[in-house]
Amino acid sequence: MNKPVILTGIKPTGHPHLGNYIGAIKPALEMAKSPILQSMYFIADYHALNAIQDANLFRQYTNEVAATWLALGLDPKRVVFYRQSDVPEILELHWILSCLTPKGLMNRAHAYKSKVDKNKEEGIEIDSGVNMGLYTYPILMASDILLFQSDLVPVGKDQMQHVEIARDIASYFNNTFGETFKLPEYVIQEETAVIPGLDGRKMSKSYNNTIPLFETPEKLKKLIFKIKTDSTLPDEPKDPDTSILITLYKDFATSEEVEQLQKQYLEGIGWGQVKQEVFEVINRELEKPRQKYQMYLDNPRILQDILNEGAHKARTLAQKQLLQIKKMIGC
Ligand code: ADP
Ligand code: TRP
Repeated sequence: MNKPVILTGIKPTGHPHLGNYIGAIKPALEMAKSPILQSMYFIADYHALNAIQDANLFRQYTNEVAATWLALGLDPKRVVFYRQSDVPEILELHWILSCLTPKGLMNRAHAYKSKVDKNKEEGIEIDSGVNMGLYTYPILMASDILLFQSDLVPVGKDQMQHVEIARDIASYFNNTFGETFKLPEYVIQEETAVIPGLDGRKMSKSYNNTIPLFETPEKLKKLIFKIKTDSTLPDEPKDPDTSILITLYKDFATSEEVEQLQKQYLEGIGWGQVKQEVFEVINRELEKPRQKYQMYLDNPRILQDILNEGAHKARTLAQKQLLQIKKMIGC
């Protein structure tokens, strides 16, 4: 019996940040330890191409995402770890699925729809600034997921719709050509708090408020000291439940440390001291991974060899599956 497949991808569109780590990478690495699942994690570089159109930057971000997974403990012997663009079978499936996908389904996909709504609001041509990569993005994602007969797809809430679209497309195919694809399910990390960024909103590359994962300790400290706080004085009691700093602290500190800091909040503690505590627990967890990360970035050959090996494993599975799919459509 084959193991259930758990598959997820991260788009290389910027420096990986603390939100990505807590919200996506850490839980995925936990799941990868399960002996009853086959994990497939990949760098969704073709998904980034509609936004990053500078070869050096594209390469740089791709290497950063790969180095991040490995530095944080991904074991490429246990997990099939690959770069999307190394698996051309995904693109072949993309075309096949495009021919089965109603255009209206893409019109309703959220990234395209919100761009159109914004254009309408601004009174400009509705498709202004929309390339076909953005428009058909969900079909490429469906190809990523369906080609490997994925059972579980861990994603952030904003990606739920895309997994539902993958299910829809799989059903169209199965209804037209006969039972071929499994219907995947998304896995949402409900218990993980949304990591707040420097300004208190969700930490996100789109808001320019991130704390990159692997800054030098000096820069990390500087960024943490930039987190927005109110003007309560050091000896005034503070509400631990509404504090951005505590939310961040909780993801890196032990429960005793959290209790202790919460107590200090109620007694009165200066923001500078809280920030120092937050810096220390984050730095403690990232110190070793930071060194590994730098090692991978300094040795792109090592990174490349790992990705090549992953691509080989992924393609072996993909080719077998694609042959079956082509048979179903009459190729
Ligand atoms: P960004 O918003 O910075 O562009 P992505 O959309 O590339 O981040 O997110 C990649 C993964 O990291 C997703 O699974 C997403 O849910 C998770 N993630 C991103 N930001 C946060 C955050 N602030 N808190 C928790 N998880 C996050
Ligand atoms: N679209 C996802 C994101 O923006 C990344 C992604 C691409 C993905 N292909 C996937 C996630 C397949 C899960 C499964 O975060």
